[in-house]
Amino acid sequence: MSGLPPGPRTPRLLQSRRWSREPLPFLERCRARYGPTFTLRLRHLGTWVLLSDPEDVKRVFSADTDDLGVGVPNLALRPVLGAHSVMLSEEPEHMARRKMMLPRFHGDRMREDAEVMTELARREVRAWPVGEPFRLWPRMQALTQEVVMRAVFGDDQGRLDRLRVLLTNLTDAVNDEGRLRKLALFGPGWLERSRGWRQAMDPVEKEVLAEVRRRRAEGENGRKDAVSILIEARNEDGSPLSEKELRDELLTLLTDGPTSSSLAWVFERLLRHPEKLERLQQELLAGEGDAYLDAVIKETLRLRPPVSVVVRRLLRPATLGGYDLPAETLVAPCVYLVHNSAEIYEDPGSFVPERFLERRAAVPTWIPFGGGARRCLAASYAEQEMKRVVRTVLEEVELEPVDTGSERISRAAIAFSPAQHGLVVARPRTPVYA
Ligand code: HEM
Repeated sequence: MSGLPPGPRTPRLLQSRRWSREPLPFLERCRARYGPTFTLRLRHLGTWVLLSDPEDVKRVFSADTDDLGVGVPNLALRPVLGAHSVMLSEEPEHMARRKMMLPRFHGDRMREDAEVMTELARREVRAWPVGEPFRLWPRMQALTQEVVMRAVFGDDQGRLDRLRVLLTNLTDAVNDEGRLRKLALFGPGWLERSRGWRQAMDPVEKEVLAEVRRRRAEGENGRKDAVSILIEARNEDGSPLSEKELRDELLTLLTDGPTSSSLAWVFERLLRHPEKLERLQQELLAGEGDAYLDAVIKETLRLRPPVSVVVRRLLRPATLGGYDLPAETLVAPCVYLVHNSAEIYEDPGSFVPERFLERRAAVPTWIPFGGGARRCLAASYAEQEMKRVVRTVLEEVELEPVDTGSERISRAAIAFSPAQHGLVVARPRTPVYA
């Protein structure tokens, strides 16, 4: 068929409003009405062909890098990332950048960070209030920020202390609800010009660039954090990355939103399913492998994917969902709809980690990290981090939910998070794990 797949015929502004206020019910209603492939027309984000048939998703993620370009990123992320970010650059720069950054988040470097992750998690948990309600999500934000700051900057305590405050301000500015509503209406250009935003962003940029200049002046130092790796990296023509390029790559790494909300969700789900929590605790207590822990994390990322769609631009015509789509069409594999499909998962709305003891979590039916050449470059790192944190929390404290009912899914700037931000009470664990 030629032309774009069907979709809501309401004006773009109205579709954008739905998308910004209640994206997940909107996606579900569209699928119920138009089928697995449909078109949304969104202000500032363009016209998207949403794909939720695994065959189409697979075709997009296995396409040649020459056939696909950058789609449109999350509106709130765009001003943070900057035009040179690996997430926004086209080939061949994209692949070159990715290759520079990957080693920091894979293999030995990733494994070396495991103990630091546990140590930072332990320190964080031991500072939690005992016996009174508190919100897990902000604590997880603080923790994952601490982990990523070390991966990016190493152990320079003074620098980390300054950045911690600045990055927390920036995260709050990104997640401010009033600002997010205006962003959907006026677009990222408005955000970049707004005073409140600049007040949060400018000091972060200044701090990041100060470190870049200091390291450059210092010369080769044998450090293996992301700043040093990127300063020493060379483009194909032998030139180093410019300050602007370094700023964009480093900020891309520092704005890690999805890990903290995914961690908040792991506990939100486990606390509503005591029998699953019990099974996980038994596994941790037995000290024999982490198959169930892995399944719990995979299932949480399936049921509560922090990112609901990933977007690509077709560089050549392609047939998807039975439609002949021209070059320049924005196609959007829909993580949320794939993960919530009854044709793929039995009882998709239920939290059943056991399903991933039996089946592999892989593209095209499990796609919380996207797929293909632009798949999250820190996917294994993030999973390792989540495992370390969940294990440490459960070793240190017993958590109880404040409300027995499930928390609703609410939209934050970068990721979907629990509406009450994971409201819990912590008590010291007895007996203590071996
Ligand atoms: C649970 C945690 C995380 C989730 C669910 C997640 C999810 C995603 C998704 C959906 C994408 C887009 C993929 C695509 O377009 O196909 C992405 C890209 C990316 N993520 Fe993550 N992410 C997580 C954690 C992290 C962390 C911890 C870092 C780094 C510190 C990171 C760095 C990146 C980068 C650099 C890209 C761009 C890759 C490229 O364009 O080649 N992510 N992530």
